[in-house]
Formats: sequence, structure tokens, C-alpha cells
Amino acid sequence: MKINLANIKKAKKLLNKSECVAIPTETVYGLAGNAYSDLACKKIYKLKKRPKNNPLIVHYYNTHDLKKDCKFNNTFFKLYKKFCPGPITFILDLNKNSKISKIATNKKNTIAVRFPKHSVTRNLLKNLKFPLAAPSANLSSKVSSVCSADVKEDFGKKIKYVLEGGKSSIGLESTIIDVRKKPKILRLGSLQISSIKKILNKKVIIKNNPSKISIPGQFKLHYSPGIPLRLNVKKIKNNEAYLLIKKIQKTKPNYYFLSKKGDLKEAAKNLYSTLRKIKKNKYKSIAVAKIPNKGLGKTINDRLIRASKF
Ligand code: TXA
Ligand code: MG
Repeated sequence: MKINLANIKKAKKLLNKSECVAIPTETVYGLAGNAYSDLACKKIYKLKKRPKNNPLIVHYYNTHDLKKDCKFNNTFFKLYKKFCPGPITFILDLNKNSKISKIATNKKNTIAVRFPKHSVTRNLLKNLKFPLAAPSANLSSKVSSVCSADVKEDFGKKIKYVLEGGKSSIGLESTIIDVRKKPKILRLGSLQISSIKKILNKKVIIKNNPSKISIPGQFKLHYSPGIPLRLNVKKIKNNEAYLLIKKIQKTKPNYYFLSKKGDLKEAAKNLYSTLRKIKKNKYKSIAVAKIPNKGLGKTINDRLIRASKF
């Protein structure tokens, strides 16, 4: 994507004043603020109507900037070298003297960090003197934003600026992994667990559905389009929108396809925008046809299951 330096300058100016700015990433758009500023972090929670106990992911340009704020180990380095910048978020131990706002971490002694790949946001991060706390740029418990129009739909004039970056190329959030001890996946995401296992060459614990909820991305209702949604549907009811993984020949106006031929990457990219579109087209509920539970399909199903707890 061609980088518009004037846009980056504008975002930087606002961020320097502890204002919030939406930023594009390859996964989904983020609602960003200075991670060293209590004021900026407070504004993020307020705008998103986010529960205060749900800490934010902090976005860095590279490990040089990260060193001041937290500790890292071999597991982290292996994954960093292979996948960063990219769609993986690490849980690390915070340094005692770190400047990260306690509002961002909810006073925990751990921190979630990520190195986004989107060229516009990388350019911005490189030009800032602080990392960016940025949860997904959507209202709490709702569908994430994958383009600037989605962000504007959710926040309207309340958000000072949306840094344009086109449509997110992946469309699903990053995979969260706690690397402090035995590697543990806390949220399924767009980086597949099989790829992570291949690099680490050891057992990876998956705690995406713990009995005790430890991160609110695991709250029951999440990623909700704001209308009821049911899964594995073969026969739809009157007036339902029907969401299918691949295009079928006998289509109807209420049929929505996530991809042409059942490609899971394409489906992931289209998931959130299609859910938003169905809601906008005034359907009262969504029926989803079975989606293969393999590879990225697992993450798509994870999001749809949470969206179905309406
Ligand atoms: O792809 C992504 O990860 C996007 C883009 C914008 O980077 N961000 C994103 O942020 O999905 P958010 O806030 O929607 O989800 C972050 C998740 C939350 O479920 C939060 O509870 C968890 O990360 N989290 C943050 N800090 C944590 C910590 N110290 N330990 C465990 N989980 C943490
Ligand atoms: Mg989110």
C-alpha cells in the first residue's frame, strides 16, 4: 500500500497529545493510543465501552523498543524471528520499571505485545516515541472492524481520526500465546497453531475455552453482529440470512457467501464485513451453514460460536 506521509503526520500529532486514532493492521483495525499515557488509555476504554478488567494489546515497531518494557526468552525469540511482524500476540512479564500505563495492563504484571505488519502502521510506529495500546476498533462485544468505514460506523464523530489503510488483508485477530512458561494459546487467531508448533517443536497447550475465564476475548458473547446467529444450519427459517462458506449455483437474495470456492483464507477475510452487511440489510437473524473445522476454519468457528451466544 502506498504510504501517505501527511496522514501519518496527522495521526502522530494526535497521538502525541494523548488522543485516540484508529490504525489499520493486517488482522483488524485497532483503536490506538499512547501506551505510556494513562489519559490516552482511559480514552480507549471509554470509547469502546470496554470493561476495565480487559487489558489492551500493546503494539511495537521492533524488539529494540520492547526491551525497556518487558522480559523475553527463547520461545519468544524463535516465534518472533519467524512470524514478526505478523498476526501473533505474546504474553510476557512486564519489567518493574516499565513506563506502560497501568490502565493498559489492568495492573497485571504481564503484558500482551504485538508487532503488526501493515506498512502504514509500521511507518507510524517507527515515527513515535512510544508504543501503541490498541484493542480492536469496535464497540465492546461486537464484530471487529476490517476497514475505515467499519470504524466510522461504530464510533462516528467520537473518534478524532481514522488512519486509512484499506481493507485488512487477513480479517481475523491475532493468535494470542503466553510464552512465559510452557507455551499456551489463549486465543485462536489468524496464525495457525500448527505453524507455531512446527517452529517450537514442542507441546503447545491450548486454553482457548478455559473453565475460568482469564481473558475477556474468551467471554461468552463476543464478535456479535447484534442479531441472533445459529450454527450448522441445513434448513433456514423464513426471513433469515443464510451464510455459507462457498458459492452455490442456486442462490437467493438472502444468501451470503464467504468465498467463491470454500477457500478458508478468503472466508476469514470476508467474515466480519459480511456479518456487518447482513445486519445493515435489516435481517433479524443469521443462519450459518457448517464450516469445516480445520485450519483457519477453527478460528472462524470460534468467532461464530461466541457470536451465537446472543
Ligand atoms: O489482531 C489483534 O490482536 C487486534 C489488532 C488491533 O492488533 N487486537 C485485538 O485486541 O484483537 P482486543 O483488545 O480486541 O483483544 C485483545 C485480547 C483481549 O481478549 C485481552 O483480554 C487479551 O488480549 N489480553 C490483553 N492483555 C493480556 C494479558 N496480560 N494476559 C492475557 N490476555 C491479555
Ligand atoms: Mg476485540
